[in-house]
Amino acid sequence: MASLTPIYQSQSILSKPHIKIPLSQASLLPTSLTNPNFGSTFLPRRCSVQFQTPTGIAKMPMKAVIVSATTAEKPKKRYPGEAKGFVEEMRFVAMKLHTRDQDKEGEKEVKEPQEVPVAKWEPTVDGYLRFLVDSKLIYDTLEGIVEKAPFSSYAEFRNTGLERSVKLAKDLEWFKEQGYTIPEPSSPGVTYAQYLKELSEKDSQAFLCHFYNIYFAHTAGGRMIGKKVAEKILNKKELEFYKWDGDLSQLLQSVREKLNKVAKSWTREEKDHCLEETEKSFKFSGEILHLILS
Ligand code: HEM
Repeated sequence: MASLTPIYQSQSILSKPHIKIPLSQASLLPTSLTNPNFGSTFLPRRCSVQFQTPTGIAKMPMKAVIVSATTAEKPKKRYPGEAKGFVEEMRFVAMKLHTRDQDKEGEKEVKEPQEVPVAKWEPTVDGYLRFLVDSKLIYDTLEGIVEKAPFSSYAEFRNTGLERSVKLAKDLEWFKEQGYTIPEPSSPGVTYAQYLKELSEKDSQAFLCHFYNIYFAHTAGGRMIGKKVAEKILNKKELEFYKWDGDLSQLLQSVREKLNKVAKSWTREEKDHCLEETEKSFKFSGEILHLILS
């Protein structure tokens, strides 16, 4: 990769024969050098070029300049959020997959029933129970996977404080006490759990995309949904699913840091592969959300 150190930052160009001049700084070069037809055959053998630097005039043999200017690469492409860390990249992709109503950063058109504004939802207790049962299956699966850690990097994500399985078990117990029959997991949950299990064993980048989206979505839109649904059908009962032990923003920050650390060792291709999985995460989770309206 070519060094993009701006020429004015280098103390002595002459003492650094490896320095390459990026094409974006071609204006620093004599105009004749920026002409693609320009060739070394037009140059006197011992010709040199001068640059103004903060420490004075620097001279460089013309031949070196030509080689550098032609081999320099384009400025490195930045990925949205990249400067803040990989979680910010994942967040950026996820937010675009929201509808405009779900979040102001959203760009997706409303196509599915669960994508209409939550305020307009007409949830049922039976549907909500199906959603909670399938959600529990997903959290049981995720928490079992990080416990087993088929990839050693998953071990970082044990006991983060974001776990939801035990909380959901308590909520289902509460529904039982209210006289409701707890259903068996349904197809959206069973399908997603199976997918996660298989993925976790062969593709850690894609798996961690789901891990991030599931836990973080629940603390954002998920909480908002829980509040609205409770207002409509549970007499505002606040479920354990929406309560965390400790400071939630600190728990999230700590998981962000762990994800950023794991992703640091990934290549750009592996990072892109992880980001590409976001759409699937929305699809599977959307089908589980849909249960609330079933
Ligand atoms: C009705 C459905 C949904 C609603 C209303 C909703 C709404 C929201 C809102 C309001 C935020 C907060 C934005 C912010 O921090 O400024 C958010 C964040 C987020 N949502 Fe959703 N969302 C929904 C579905 C989903 C789904 C299905 C997924 C993926 C599985 C998802 C993934 C995320 C993620 C990863 C964040 C970022 C959280 C963070 O930065 O802490 N959301 N969502």
